[in-house]
This record gives sequence, structure tokens and C-alpha cells, in this order.
Amino acid sequence: MSVTEGIDKTRIPKHIAVIMDGNGRWAKQKGQDRIYGHQAGAESVRQITEACGELGVEYLTLYAFSMENWDRPKYEIEALMALLVETIENETDDLIKNNVRILAIGDLKKLPEDVEQKLSNCMQRTAVCTGLKLVLALSYSSRWEITEAVRKIATQVKEGSLELEDITEETVSNNLATNSIPDPDLLIRTSGELRISNFLMWQLSYAELYFTDMYWPDFGKEELRKAIIDYQRRERRFGKTSEQVREETEE
Ligand code: IPE
Ligand code: IPE
Ligand code: MG
Repeated sequence: MSVTEGIDKTRIPKHIAVIMDGNGRWAKQKGQDRIYGHQAGAESVRQITEACGELGVEYLTLYAFSMENWDRPKYEIEALMALLVETIENETDDLIKNNVRILAIGDLKKLPEDVEQKLSNCMQRTAVCTGLKLVLALSYSSRWEITEAVRKIATQVKEGSLELEDITEETVSNNLATNSIPDPDLLIRTSGELRISNFLMWQLSYAELYFTDMYWPDFGKEELRKAIIDYQRRERRFGKTSEQVREETEE
């Protein structure tokens, strides 16, 4: 089935964010090492990136490695970093061919040097691409991001370039790592966990949340199609009444 089947092309979420969870359990279920699950997860990333390109989604943000994931066993961190380098090396040419631009959010200074270099090279090479923007959340935590924003804003006030009274919600947004990126419309979390795990807490304020029991390596184009159809059935009210929303869409 085509990924566009049954989808209203005029109401595609502009920004989809994904908490790609369940790689380890997927592998364990198969009697394999967790790393095998991460490798399989990389294939899902390819599938979902391709599908989002086809659908005309503008931004896809993938939670690939959280700040808290630095507390995992050393061998798993090393395997994840190696997989990241390998994937970037193998995929950059195809990304350019498919007009996909890579962006990254997170405390990238914490990444091993080779990962940081490969990533920044990939970001530079894909900077000319005008299609889907694939945002990788790496060494990312929402509390880290908000703390950094507070620090930046406080510095501006201290230096006299910003008045206290002029601090607005926009000031906060503009000082987050996601400053040029619109808020997600749809958040997908796989693996049956019903939590946010320190991901985009400011930006998800009005996102539609979609949870599935499926482990990330099993999440493919058909699953994405189902999530978008579910999203399109919902009424986004942003605090207003249903009547107001309907009047607005009729206008
Ligand atoms: C998600 O899968 C990938 C990362 C967090 C890097 P997990 O590795 O968390 O898999 P589970 O949740 O243990 O099954
Ligand atoms: C969230 O998954 C982080 C990523 C998907 C990168 P975790 O597996 O780390 O989340 P928790 O610890 O179960 O909340
Ligand atoms: Mg997990």
C-alpha cells in the first residue's frame, strides 16, 4: 500500500517528532544483543525519512540519543556512536540526492570527536538541500536546552541588549536549539511507553500525541501512514471551542 493512501494531502503535519524506542527489547525478543536492535532501527530511520519526503512533511525530528543515554553501559554507547558514524557516511550521498537537509539539536560537544566531525560535515554538505529537514536530537535533553536558553537570555539582560520587560514567549523560543524550527504537530512514540523522556517539552505544548506498542525496528511506512490518519481525525482546538474551530475552517 502506498504511504499516501487514505491521507488528506492538504493536512499533512508540517513537523513530525519521533521518540524511537524499543530497539533493545526488539532484539532481546529475537534472542539477540541490543546492538542488533539499534542496527535494525537505523533501517526504520531510512524508511521513515523516505516516507516523510514522499508525503511532503517539512520537518522530521528524531530522538536518537538522549542526555540520559550517556549513562548506559560503555559498550552500548560506543556501538551507538559507531553506528551513527557509519550511517552518516553511508547515507549522506543519498540524502543529497533526495534533497534532505540534516540539522542537529543537543549538546553536541559531548559527542566523540569523530562523530561531531562527520555530523558537521554532513550538515554542511546537505545545507543546500531544500526538501525535508531531518533534525537529529543527539545528546539532547529538554531541561538542558531550556537551561541553556535561560542562560543566554540572562546574559543578554546583563549585557543590556535585552530589557527584562521585553522577554516574551518568542524570546524563549528563539533561544532554544530549535529556534528556526516550527513546533511539532505530531509526536510519535514507539514501544508502548507513555512518557516524554525529556524530549522537546516546550515545543510539544500543543502537539498531538500518538503512542504505539510497536518497537521502533518494526515501525515502517504503513505504521507512519496509520499515525498520520489518526492525527488527521483529530480536532486541534488550541484552547478554543469546537464551534469556533469549525467556523474558522469554514471561512
Ligand atoms: C531506543 O531503543 C534507542 C535509544 C534510546 C538509543 P532502546 O535502546 O531504548 O530500547 P529499549 O527501550 O531498551 O527496548
Ligand atoms: C528515549 O528512550 C530516548 C531515545 C529514544 C533516544 P529511552 O529508552 O532512553 O527512554 P526511557 O529511559 O525509557 O524513558
Ligand atoms: Mg528505551
